[in-house]
Amino acid sequence: MIVGICGSPRKKATDHVLKEALTILEDKGFETTFYGVRGKNIGPCKHCDYCLRKKECFLKDDMTEVYELLNNAQGIIIASPMYNGGVSGQIKCIMDRCRALGAADYDSLRGKIGMGIAVGGDRSGGQEMALLQIHTYYILSGVIPVSGGSFGANLGACLWSKDSLDGVKEDEEGFRTLRKTLNMFGRYLENYNPETHKKP
Ligand SMILES: Cc1cc2nc3c(=O)[nH]c(=O)nc-3n(C[C@H](O)[C@H](O)[C@H](O)COP(=O)(O)O)c2cc1C
Repeated sequence: MIVGICGSPRKKATDHVLKEALTILEDKGFETTFYGVRGKNIGPCKHCDYCLRKKECFLKDDMTEVYELLNNAQGIIIASPMYNGGVSGQIKCIMDRCRALGAADYDSLRGKIGMGIAVGGDRSGGQEMALLQIHTYYILSGVIPVSGGSFGANLGACLWSKDSLDGVKEDEEGFRTLRKTLNMFGRYLENYNPETHKKP
C-alpha cells in the first residue's frame, strides 16, 4: 500500500496534484490511500519524552490514524503546499510526531520508499527547500528517498499553482516533474522487499 499525505488545509492545488499522483499509481496496479490534514486535529510534538518511556505518543489525536497508515505502507508520498519557503506546519507536525513511531520501533519506517510533492504559489517559492525537508525526514527515518532524477525532476515533483486550483492544472512542466518522479517511485516499489532492511 502507498499512503499519500496531503499537507494542505484546503481542497485545492496540493490535494488535486496528490490525487492525480495516486490515480497514476493505481493505473500502474498499486494500491493507494489518501490522507489529508484538512479538518484534522494533529498537534505539535511536546517533547515530553513520554514516547521514549511508553513507546507511544502521549497526545491522543488524529495522528493515531497516520501512525497506522505509515506502519502499513510500503511507499510514502508527502505532498505539501509551500509555506514561507518550506513545508506547511501541518506536515512538520506529522514529521515531528513520528518520533513516537521510532520510539516504539527504531526500524518502523526503515526501507520504505518515499517521495515528495511540493506545490507553491510562486514558480520558485521554496519547492526544492521543502523537498529537501521531506527527504531529510525520510533519511532520518530510514525511508529511501526517491527523486525523478536529473533532466527535470532533480529532487522530486515541483508544482506552481499561481495560488489557485486552475493555476496548478495549467502547470504542464510541474506535472512532467510529477510523472518522472512517479516513474522512479514505481520502479523502486516494484523491487521493494520489506525483509531487506530488517534486523537479522
Ligand atoms: C502562510 C502561507 C505562506 C505561503 N508561503 C509561500 C511561499 O513561501 N512560497 C510560495 O510559493 N507560496 C507560498 N504560499 C502560497 C501557497 O503555497 C500556494 O497558494 C499553494 O498553492 C497552496 O496550496 P493549496 O492550494 O493546496 O492550499 C503561502 C501560503 C500561505 C497560506
